[in-house]
Amino acid sequence: MKHLIDPTDLSKEEIDQIIALAQDIIAHRERYQGSMAHKKLATLFYEPSTRTRLSFTAAMMELGGQVLGFSNPQNSSAAKGETVQDTVRVLGCFADIIAMRHPIEGAPLVASEVSRVPIINAGDGSHSHPTQTLTDLLTIKRELGHIDDITIGFCGDLRFGRTVHSLIKALSRYHGIKVVLIAPDELRLPDYIKLDVCEKMGVAYRETDSLDEAIPELDVLYMTRVQKERFLDEDEFDRVKDSFVLDARRMALAKPKMAVLHPLPRVNEILTEVDEDPRAAYFRQVENGKLVRMALIISLMEWKNDPEHTMPEHETPIVNPALHCTNPKCICNNEKHQPRFRLAENGIMRCWYCDSKVR
Ligand code: NCD
Repeated sequence: MKHLIDPTDLSKEEIDQIIALAQDIIAHRERYQGSMAHKKLATLFYEPSTRTRLSFTAAMMELGGQVLGFSNPQNSSAAKGETVQDTVRVLGCFADIIAMRHPIEGAPLVASEVSRVPIINAGDGSHSHPTQTLTDLLTIKRELGHIDDITIGFCGDLRFGRTVHSLIKALSRYHGIKVVLIAPDELRLPDYIKLDVCEKMGVAYRETDSLDEAIPELDVLYMTRVQKERFLDEDEFDRVKDSFVLDARRMALAKPKMAVLHPLPRVNEILTEVDEDPRAAYFRQVENGKLVRMALIISLMEWKNDPEHTMPEHETPIVNPALHCTNPKCICNNEKHQPRFRLAENGIMRCWYCDSKVR
């Protein structure tokens, strides 16, 4: 069985297959209408969402399937102290596939360890968001015609923005990708993505704090919201909240075919004056999110009993009582799970569940 917890759970071939299927759905919508008849998707959302949850819902409905779940954990047994693993064991009795969003990093991973149906990570804390990545890849493909050989600028909150982390991981599998990281010092990309992904996979990257300087060379500009809910210190948020704003003046510095992506919601980082620019792809990106989730649901349901499509072999986790994960938002510090670790690049030990550096 295949779950989608991290973008690297899918091989590049599987990603390309899902994108090709989404394109076939676009061309022949009617062929797929009944493909999930009598199947149920559970959406377990422990954190706010508009697009992700409703695009999963719309995707399953378009495929003729049904949807159950909750969008507020206060209305679920989580409020009584039920663990994530117990909740998915229960939902596995009711649903054929589960999409889960959780503020605690690693929650969908521990869910997948006990689930008898495929689990899709719909966002865990500031860690990963692999279905947004599929959305972004389909959007790049449709806007530019190719994913290989692009220069992509990530702008805004690269520290807490889980969509950025996941998209860089997936892009590291493609050819000729150049990444420009545009962020103030406080919001820089975490080291584990720079070291374990960019450096390990040979992705060329550079860091800058000037959008004006970076924008002329970009094929894709990926704007992000500063993730207010992830800051532990409100003053720090206030200092950086208006770091970068995309406006018509800055668009004039960009290539005529550059595509502007944003996972949305936006707050004030893209002025509405940009919306009518043909390069503004963020509302088309929303529709791609539904289409690619249709393709993902079909694929995971097909792969459920297919030995050709299983989870990748991960190295054995390291268990050592002397090591501690210090991330308060990691699942191992919120529910009782054995602390586990992996040895990453440069001999750095990282938490198995949340990737943070371990002492
Ligand atoms: C993103 C998320 O939830 O991480 N939104 C989304 O899923 N489309 C980005 C964000 O909240 O800023």
